[in-house]
Amino acid sequence: FMLNKCLFPAAGHGTRFLPATKAVPKEMLPILRKPLLQYGVEEALAANINNISIVTGRGKRAIEDHFDNAFELESQLIGTSKEYLLTEIKEVIEKATFTYVRQPSMLGLGHAILTGESLIGNEPFAVVLADDLCYSPDKGVLAQMLEVYKKYKCSIVAIEEVPEDQVDKYGIITGKLLDESDDTFLVTNMIEKPNIGEANSNLAVIGRYILTPDIFNILKNTKPDKNNEIQITEALNEQAKKGNVIGYKFKGIRFDCGDVDGFVSATNYFAKNNL
Ligand code: G1P
Repeated sequence: FMLNKCLFPAAGHGTRFLPATKAVPKEMLPILRKPLLQYGVEEALAANINNISIVTGRGKRAIEDHFDNAFELESQLIGTSKEYLLTEIKEVIEKATFTYVRQPSMLGLGHAILTGESLIGNEPFAVVLADDLCYSPDKGVLAQMLEVYKKYKCSIVAIEEVPEDQVDKYGIITGKLLDESDDTFLVTNMIEKPNIGEANSNLAVIGRYILTPDIFNILKNTKPDKNNEIQITEALNEQAKKGNVIGYKFKGIRFDCGDVDGFVSATNYFAKNNL
């Protein structure tokens, strides 16, 4: 059983957080002391996925520096009472291997994932959108999804119910319940950001995917939408038509940290619960 690569699309501008994101990648914004992207990488490591591939862009070099040793800083802190502050990131650096590719222009999430093809190759892989921060007390969302993948060996999307008036922010699935005990759905249709009132369900895809590598060829043939963006939802819908996508209602909570309100909620939750 092989699934040891996780792709992190991280090329977006983070305009909703300007001016903070003018020079700082949005993936580096912290919830308490830890950058969003590090939470995502730790979730992958907790699922025994240690090959971390990041799709970056201009102005994102801080990401590469974060996941590397910082000799001067470390030699200053070593033996002091502050040394422990680097423990978690040192552990991440030790366990994971990082590869990077740049997306030269923003042409949508599907295009970002396709840009990662040279890092992933012809094997199934996970995708994490770091601004969807997930917290599960027992088992991380990716580890939960790997179990579903082991059983079905097809693409898996993490889903959650959202209020009816928010379906226009997400990819929405239509599906048939497969197994009530583990909350898996056979996806029959997927639509990206439907108008409110036009969706068949309120089951929204959140930023965790396991994709089979045929997705790359599908993405190559996926037409850009009206905003000139290639959507992963569209490509997944092609797999879904063949019965090859499972929706999984994950256990845990998720914060939309791509949005200021969600970011504040995550901060409060993590502070209150000493996470
Ligand atoms: C992306 C996807 C969407 C998905 C969402 C999850 O949208 O296109 O299908 O539901 O992530 O966060 P974005 O949030 O990048 O607009």
